[in-house]
Amino acid sequence: MKVAVFGLGYVGTVTAACLASHGHDVWGVDVDRAKVADIRSGRTPVAEPGLEELIGKAVADGTLHATTSCADALDEAEVSLVCVGTPSTTGGATDLSYIRRSVDDIVAALRVAVPSASGHHSVVIRSTVPPGTIDQAVLPALVSGLAGTPITPGAAMCPEFLREGTSVADFFNAPLMVVGTSDPVVAETVTSLFGFLDQPARVVEPRTAESLKYACNAFHATKVSFANEMARLLRRVGVDSREVMSLFVEDQVLNISPAYLRPGFAFGGSCLPKDIRSLLHLARVNSADLPMLSGTLATNELVIRDVVDRVVACAGRNVALLGLSFKNNTDDLRESPNVELAERLIGKGFHVRIYDPVVNPAKLIGSNRRAIEAKLPHLSRLLAHEPGQALHGADIAIVSSGDQAVRDALVRSGPAHLFDLNGRLGQQVEALAGYEGIGW
Ligand SMILES: NC(=O)c1ccc[n+]([C@@H]2O[C@H](COP(=O)([O-])OP(=O)(O)OC[C@H]3O[C@@H](n4cnc5c(N)ncnc54)[C@H](O)[C@@H]3O)[C@@H](O)[C@H]2O)c1
Repeated sequence: MKVAVFGLGYVGTVTAACLASHGHDVWGVDVDRAKVADIRSGRTPVAEPGLEELIGKAVADGTLHATTSCADALDEAEVSLVCVGTPSTTGGATDLSYIRRSVDDIVAALRVAVPSASGHHSVVIRSTVPPGTIDQAVLPALVSGLAGTPITPGAAMCPEFLREGTSVADFFNAPLMVVGTSDPVVAETVTSLFGFLDQPARVVEPRTAESLKYACNAFHATKVSFANEMARLLRRVGVDSREVMSLFVEDQVLNISPAYLRPGFAFGGSCLPKDIRSLLHLARVNSADLPMLSGTLATNELVIRDVVDRVVACAGRNVALLGLSFKNNTDDLRESPNVELAERLIGKGFHVRIYDPVVNPAKLIGSNRRAIEAKLPHLSRLLAHEPGQALHGADIAIVSSGDQAVRDALVRSGPAHLFDLNGRLGQQVEALAGYEGIGW
């Protein structure tokens, strides 16, 4: 397939060389003549292990070309991969001027180029761009710019996951191949372009693909900062943080795993809030700042406040709260965000009926009993014996229980507003009118 790669920096050069090494006819384009000259003479413009060898062989084989001319690169090309920079502006926004310029260059060149055999041209953004860029900037510029030509354009976001220093190896062992497009022809083109990678293409909406790259980088930054915050505290109390963290990563059930990474309601229970407070106290008395860890409590509070605000914005005052304990299959009410939610809604004048398949106020003992007496002393009067009773006359249902009886009752009663706090109710319930998934 003939491919034009715009931007011969770290991402573009690696992408061009790796695609060319698998037999694609690759044309790299850059405004920087020195980079183009490097590649033409078989050298790499960026230092990356293994890249010079790949470029040298691909240039000698005639599968890799470099040029400053968009027109040469786009004659009969099926696809353009855009790998130009997306730096920060002084205010922190993403500077999309290089992306816009490249798309304009592609449009201008396609208007005079020999069209591809299919008459279709896919513009695939590999640079990291904010959600909405494909739909609001790239696709409209292509469609309006190519109107009246024989070329049918399409666009996709295909995030790049390589890391500098290991980028060639990362390209061939990509953790994911994600194609963000609503155009089936583009999805098919990109899937076949990268078909030699042993990684199935996941076709999603452009905004999902655009957001995914930010989620990945935000998570990586969070991981580094988490380890470094733990180290800052542990060093002060004489503990070897590297030993702690090397044991920490051995837990691949809860720590290095998908656990706790599903957007949903706030955390709570008898351990997490208490132990975060304890760590923060230890940090304070040892003069260590832990802004990220203390931020978890602020974020947790915002999650509860967000639900309250969204419920207040609904029509109706009758609320069914389905699920009260801090998670399913326990009657532990200590620091349950559902208890906090019930207290705040009652305080705002809502009529709240509660159903929890496990909580039985008569059986609550010890600190669990004290927790509920402090927050909801009249719990037994609010509790329903079965979910249908709590839902009777409810305008709003707030659900964290995954109990089957709860799902069945929701399907039967269909309240006007439904908040699925943990996103686990399933399609049958999600299809109900007014469904709103918290955390989506
Ligand atoms: N570097 C990484 O490890 C990495 C990994 C994944 C994603 N990304 C993302 O990929 C994008 C590119 O990153 P990079 O590090 O390769 O950038 P870079 O600065 O190394 O390269 C960008 C290249 O684009 C060229 N360019 C600018 N405007 C052009 C135009 N109109 N036509 C042709 N070429 C043009 C520049 O001359 C430069 O050579 C960024 O959005 C970045 O966030 C980078």
